[in-house]
Amino acid sequence: MKSHEQWTSKLGFILAAAGSAIGLGAIWKFPYLAGTNGGAIFFLLFIILTIFVGAPILIAEFMVGRNSQKDAVRAYQKLAPGSKWHYVGYAGVLFSFILLSFYSVVGGWILSYLWRGLTGSLTDADYGAVFGEVISNPVEVVAAQFIFMLMTIFVVKGGIQKGIERASKYMMPALFLFFIILGIRSLTLDGAMEGVRFLLYPDFSAITGETILMALGQAFFTLSVGISVMVTYASYLSNKENLTKSAFSVVGLNIFICLLAGLVIFPAVFALGFEPGEGPGLVFVVLPAVFNEMAFGGVFLVIFLILLLFATLTSAFSILEIVVAALVKDDAGRRGKISWISGLLIFMVGVPSALSFGVLSDVQIFGKSIFDFSDFLVTNLGLPIGALFISLFVAYRLPRELVKEELNKGTKGLGILFDIWYAAIRYIAPVGIVLVFLSSLGII
Ligand code: PHE
Repeated sequence: MKSHEQWTSKLGFILAAAGSAIGLGAIWKFPYLAGTNGGAIFFLLFIILTIFVGAPILIAEFMVGRNSQKDAVRAYQKLAPGSKWHYVGYAGVLFSFILLSFYSVVGGWILSYLWRGLTGSLTDADYGAVFGEVISNPVEVVAAQFIFMLMTIFVVKGGIQKGIERASKYMMPALFLFFIILGIRSLTLDGAMEGVRFLLYPDFSAITGETILMALGQAFFTLSVGISVMVTYASYLSNKENLTKSAFSVVGLNIFICLLAGLVIFPAVFALGFEPGEGPGLVFVVLPAVFNEMAFGGVFLVIFLILLLFATLTSAFSILEIVVAALVKDDAGRRGKISWISGLLIFMVGVPSALSFGVLSDVQIFGKSIFDFSDFLVTNLGLPIGALFISLFVAYRLPRELVKEELNKGTKGLGILFDIWYAAIRYIAPVGIVLVFLSSLGII
């Protein structure tokens, strides 16, 4: 049977798109990147690049997906027949593959923490030592990563509506609520203000080309743009919805959750005597310590880890979905098999990343561990370059009228807003991406 599913409601789509966007990027990566890249200045650059470069590209991906009603590869084939543009889709599929291979490793760490939280070994512990243990035990990391991939495969093989949409509807709001409660606890710790200052008062002298590239990669990473994930998600959307408005909701929620994550982590870092530049372990070391300062902290930590797991899973679903959708090609009968095969292959490719904090820690690629190298490859090269091509495709290859008509659907007419976006996608986004690359290479 050939059929292309649709989201059941507008809220379902926004939640699923926000579910893809909000995940480890905002909650795990943002705090540690801000911590190692000057705090507030990184946050400021991230917000600017999210609004002026990331958001316009998010709208462009939505436009391509909904207009074509096709997966990442066939979307470009349909809109630009006979051209090579669909390689942008293939590149998206390939980078999604690598992305999920290390994303699932961190998903596995969350499962390990959950296990420890349930068995009570996270109360009054040495949290630095716990993290070291979690990431370095070869059997545990690989087993945990495997379980995380199994969970992802189970939902994705069931198809977008039944699986992804239903799960997102309840877990996302719960996660927000929890973050707000945590923020209040963290901000009322003694010495919390220093953390607030670290996150919100920028030191402009700390800007480097490298910081800007990291902020750009992070902007794309948290919005899930650059590898056509949002093309795939928007292809399940009906013509009634207003794409621009949906994009604004996703961008707004995303910046808000980064802010919340920062306001939970940094006050606690300074109040409890941790180091902001701790690296990938930051959230895993600091959060249990914050919970330890709360009444019923042990129980709350477990609930929080379950919500974090869900946020991570909803992003993982979207990453596996693009790979599966591109291979299934609307032939629903093949979905189950293809989900299993691609999910298990991704797991295998990810094993070296999982081991790179322990037995493979001596293996270096361009001076980085396997895990860091995969992350760098996707976040700082794959996403920005993919985003560049998507902006060029929509701005220069597609007829302006077609684009305009698509974005006007479900609205009373975007008016001047369309012209502003069109200028952003035509000039600001591509020029911005190229400039950031040049400056990170030290050329300008
Ligand atoms: N946006 C997700 C996160 O922040 C990661 C992601 C990137 C998902 C790119 C899909 C595509 O965790």
